[in-house]
Amino acid sequence: MEIKTIKKIGVLTSGGDAPGMNAAIRATVRAGFYYNLEMYGIYRGYEGMINDEIKKLESKNIAHVLERGGTFLKSARSAEFRTKEGRQKAYDNLKKHGIDALVVIGGDGSLTGAHLFFQEFGIPAIGLPGTIDNDLSGTDSTIGFDTACNTAIQAIDKIRDTATSHDRLFFVEVMGRDAGFIAINAGIGSAAAATLIPEKKMPIERLVERLKARTKALKQSNIVIVAEGGKSGGAAEIASKIKKQLPYYDIKVTILGHLQRGGSPTSFDRVLASKLGVAAVEGLMQGKYDVMAGIINNKIVFTPITKAIVDDKEVDEDDFRIAKILST
Ligand code: F6P
Repeated sequence: MEIKTIKKIGVLTSGGDAPGMNAAIRATVRAGFYYNLEMYGIYRGYEGMINDEIKKLESKNIAHVLERGGTFLKSARSAEFRTKEGRQKAYDNLKKHGIDALVVIGGDGSLTGAHLFFQEFGIPAIGLPGTIDNDLSGTDSTIGFDTACNTAIQAIDKIRDTATSHDRLFFVEVMGRDAGFIAINAGIGSAAAATLIPEKKMPIERLVERLKARTKALKQSNIVIVAEGGKSGGAAEIASKIKKQLPYYDIKVTILGHLQRGGSPTSFDRVLASKLGVAAVEGLMQGKYDVMAGIINNKIVFTPITKAIVDDKEVDEDDFRIAKILST
């Protein structure tokens, strides 16, 4: 593939925000400045590309953003970018500013956008995995996943206090879309009585048996983690099924929801995002296009976007086994 000379890079965040996105933007922009490139912020993701919300970034724009949650470039899910006309408008705006390459930080939908854009208009693009869900192949961890797990575990610790005081059974629903990565981590890290993830079917009867056994073992509190995309339903649905079979339990449901998306990124996410931001700029300069930068076994790896977004990253079988052993 021909290596293009890159002078101006546009950076955007798209889809659901994730802690560490700011650190990734900052590293991308810093690396760009280091290599004497002009750096442009595209606000509100692809929507902002279509509406020409594009501004040249200076050093002051990225001061004190590394430690902040969210994304100062803002984020959006753009329906218009899914149309050819929308993408044409976006391309025209990039040309107007002379932007010759893109760094797209987001989840699978955002990276799919970057891939399409490269295919249609030949704009060199590198994706960075920015999502709390950890559901992208080509990286051991996505930016934001570690922070979301920490946030979930801290919240569950608090729930544990009140659950123990009242001898209650709690069902705590965590995010993750169709993937159980946050759930399994939260389950292991918070000593859950059971963890229900989309990748594994857990019949209600088995959960009932597990809870009965724990009652016999005089466990002081019971917290069941439910991944939002679970096959047997969300936390509320499962709680009501359990109530029918174990009516003596005082049951409560907590949906952690969007609090898992906020907060200052952990050191792990800051370092991951920083390394990947530099990798994105260097990758573009070396002619690596239509790929996602990730870290596997502590090494930067570039994976074709089409491969990174394939839904084949699965919760480790061993993690599931360990969660089970520790919950009995
Ligand atoms: O992909 C990140 C995520 O937080 C998922 O875990 C969740 O299912 C979804 O986004 C929620 O999206 P929204 O913020 O648009 O409701």
